[in-house]
Amino acid sequence: MPSKSEKPSQEAIVKGNAASFKPTYLVLDSINVDLLSITILVATGLAYLFHYIDAKLALGALALGILPLRLIFPRARPPRGTVLITGASSGVGAEFSYIFAERGHDLILVGRNQDQLDVVRENVQRRYQVRADTISIDLSVQGAARELYNQVNEKERSVSVLVNNAGLGAAGDPMEQDVELAERMVTLNCITPVQLARLFGDDMIKRGEGWMLHVTSVGAWIASPGQNIYHSSKHFLRAFSEALTLELRAYPGITNTNLMPGPAHTQFITRSHAEETFMMAASGAVEDPKRVAQVGYMALCNRKASVFSSWNAAGTTMLFRFLPRSVHLTLASLLNAPLRGVRRASEPLAEQRVRGEEL
Ligand SMILES: NC(=O)c1ccc[n+]([C@@H]2O[C@H](COP(=O)([O-])OP(=O)(O)OC[C@H]3O[C@@H](n4cnc5c(N)ncnc54)[C@H](OP(=O)(O)O)[C@@H]3O)[C@@H](O)[C@H]2O)c1
Repeated sequence: MPSKSEKPSQEAIVKGNAASFKPTYLVLDSINVDLLSITILVATGLAYLFHYIDAKLALGALALGILPLRLIFPRARPPRGTVLITGASSGVGAEFSYIFAERGHDLILVGRNQDQLDVVRENVQRRYQVRADTISIDLSVQGAARELYNQVNEKERSVSVLVNNAGLGAAGDPMEQDVELAERMVTLNCITPVQLARLFGDDMIKRGEGWMLHVTSVGAWIASPGQNIYHSSKHFLRAFSEALTLELRAYPGITNTNLMPGPAHTQFITRSHAEETFMMAASGAVEDPKRVAQVGYMALCNRKASVFSSWNAAGTTMLFRFLPRSVHLTLASLLNAPLRGVRRASEPLAEQRVRGEEL
């Protein structure tokens, strides 16, 4: 028998069979709320179609059945404790740092660019007086997740919130790209986040409390000639994150959110050499990274399993999901096609000192 001080989630680990320690299907989390909403919608629609109820009753049943459910559940639970953010030196990751710091969280900022990590640290310390440590590490190499985990432990920090944000794209023809590029991208975008979730997740489970956020992409739904490996890698991370949310039901107190941004105005554009693609240069859909991070933060507080960064991102995904495959692939290749000097995305912010002046 576990001692009284042990959390139920710890008991599950000790028993080695987390899924069986408690029935997990009856919780009103965002997956089940969606499931119930769809069930009510379909049942009401069928009842109306087969003339069991009239239109008024159908609308009443929908309003009474779905609205309270969606307004009340899942109950909000804002994160607390130290936040580790990968890719905190720029773009969406830097914006996450400012958002969490504003709410009083201590931070562990991770990336490779020590200079920019230091600037983000100075920005949050000056503006929000929180503790911030930096760890400079290349997360695209084998073993990086464990190395990062060890470095955090050496600093005697415990992570309550894990933001798996670091990522890299690569526009172009995969037949012309370095053979090693695919390995680095898959390690950074897939393997490292999975291993970080495993390592830090274990500690969260022992404490009975924790929050994870995975930054995937609208591209996680699109097979993209011209961004092939990147979008393929994001398919992997999205599937992992979605399934993980349900698996984590076995560990009360641990939640996971999948944030799917549309194109955002960050160094991702220049780093992945996508500044001349139609998507980045001319689609008009490029989003503000601050807004993307805010949406992710709110979704984490509200225990959402998945969230798009904007209605535009959600609409684009819906369109691609329901298009015939031939149209899907052709449209995706047009979006990722280079405009060859006709138009270029404006230069994204590269210097966090500028961002610090605005805080
Ligand atoms: N911008 C978009 O259009 C867009 C759209 C959908 C999804 N996303 C996703 O959003 C996330 C954040 O990207 P962003 O738009 O903010 O781009 P960004 O400004 O280029 O930021 C990427 C971050 O990842 C870090 N990083 C890159 N390679 C790394 C490595 N090998 N080891 C450790 N850290 C590394 C970078 O830090 P260092 O330079 O210090 O290493 C940087 O802080 C990514 O997962 C990206 O896939 C972006």
